Amino acid sequence: MKIAIVGLGYVGLPLSLQFARSGVTVLGLDVDRAKVEAINEGRSYIKHIESAAIAGLVNSGKFSASTDFHKVKKMDGVIICVPTPLNKNREPDISFILDTGRSIAPHLKKGITIVLESTTYPGTTDEDLRAVLEEGSGLKAGTDFHLAFSPEREDPGNPDSKVALIPKVIGGYTPACLEKAKAIYGQAIKTLVPVSSCRAAEAAKLTENIFRSVNIALVNELKVVYTAMGIDIWEVINAAKTKPFGYMAFYPGPGLGGHCIPIDPFYLTWKAREFGEHTRFIELAGEINTAMPQYVVHQVVNALNDRRKSVNGAKILILGLAYKADVDDDRESPSYVLMTLLKERGAAVSYYDPYVPVIRPTREHPQWAGVKSVAWTEKTISGFDLVLISTKHKSVDYEQLAKWADCIVDSRNAMAAIKTAPGQVWKA
Ligand SMILES: NC(=O)c1ccc[n+]([C@@H]2O[C@H](COP(=O)([O-])OP(=O)(O)OC[C@H]3O[C@@H](n4cnc5c(N)ncnc54)[C@H](O)[C@@H]3O)[C@@H](O)[C@H]2O)c1
Repeated sequence: MKIAIVGLGYVGLPLSLQFARSGVTVLGLDVDRAKVEAINEGRSYIKHIESAAIAGLVNSGKFSASTDFHKVKKMDGVIICVPTPLNKNREPDISFILDTGRSIAPHLKKGITIVLESTTYPGTTDEDLRAVLEEGSGLKAGTDFHLAFSPEREDPGNPDSKVALIPKVIGGYTPACLEKAKAIYGQAIKTLVPVSSCRAAEAAKLTENIFRSVNIALVNELKVVYTAMGIDIWEVINAAKTKPFGYMAFYPGPGLGGHCIPIDPFYLTWKAREFGEHTRFIELAGEINTAMPQYVVHQVVNALNDRRKSVNGAKILILGLAYKADVDDDRESPSYVLMTLLKERGAAVSYYDPYVPVIRPTREHPQWAGVKSVAWTEKTISGFDLVLISTKHKSVDYEQLAKWADCIVDSRNAMAAIKTAPGQVWKA
């Protein structure tokens, strides 16, 4: 079997490797030439993926990459893993999916199976993508080619998360489409979870991410309330999670980050309006989670005030720029919001992140492009008035931090097990 995987990012690359390892011949297609070159040279550009894993499969002839969409002609299936962001009005931007559809449509042959994996609102596959594919190919979905949706469940930074072992939900445009998509994924994934339609599969993915967003908002709200009462939210969650049923632990933080949880729920909010429905839980969770950086800044103000200092003129280090622990992905990271809020208040802001040595240019935070991580030395770290922990990377030595920094604001409970002096650490 030969398949093409379009979009070689955090989702498409590990998926390509899993198919290639399983004996499927994989062609990675991307518009980003640098990624295509890296793969063909056996180089990884994602921290948690080893170059050797790519090189081995490239050398064996099972995996190659290209920018040439003509090659779709020779494929049995195409899996689409391109970005689905929000536009500047916080509405779904499915242009990457539609662009991909336009690129592959002229090269579709009869019998090919197209599967969308990008997280999106119900109806994207069987309405929007289908229209583009049918128009560009002159073929009919369900008759001439097969169409399906199967959401990705990648958990970046989790070493126990193995693509092959994560059950895969699949919905087809027709029962025959479902069978074809199952035949493809069955080559590489152990457990398949068929559902009745593309829309049910699209909704399943959104439900998973909305569940996380709402539960994170809940513990963020409880954090603020319990802190006012002098109760430690982390202690409370650790106690609550000993209940063997009916409770699942979620943890508070400085705000949401990454490509999924801050964005995906609003895909449903937007689509729900078409049906005259409102998504109040989603909106409320979004409101609470986006207010978190303000709360953390408030704790920074309190910690500095305790030392007769102000934010204005303070030297502040943000510890961790990636949006979650042990990854190099800084998309939508709340650390940028914290840095901007503190800078606006007159602080001199620096950051340390072993996985983000320099800030790449982004649309959202152009003012930070080119700024470099400080060095992890006693001289540098002890020179800050305050260190704000926003990501809990395992590789950071928090005992050293306790020795070097005398004022720490901790939004991740990273200092819980570390010996510190009274008043040295403020939880946020
Ligand atoms: N990152 C995650 O943990 C995760 C988890 C589950 C689901 N998802 C979803 O998977 C999808 C992809 O996310 P990602 O994190 O891999 O994104 P990414 O930005 O890491 O990768 C997307 C890739 O698509 C390429 N691309 C963009 N437009 C293209 C086009 N027209 N043709 C070919 N290639 C194109 C980009 O160059 C990039 O390499 C999104 O819908 C996301 O919501 C992501």
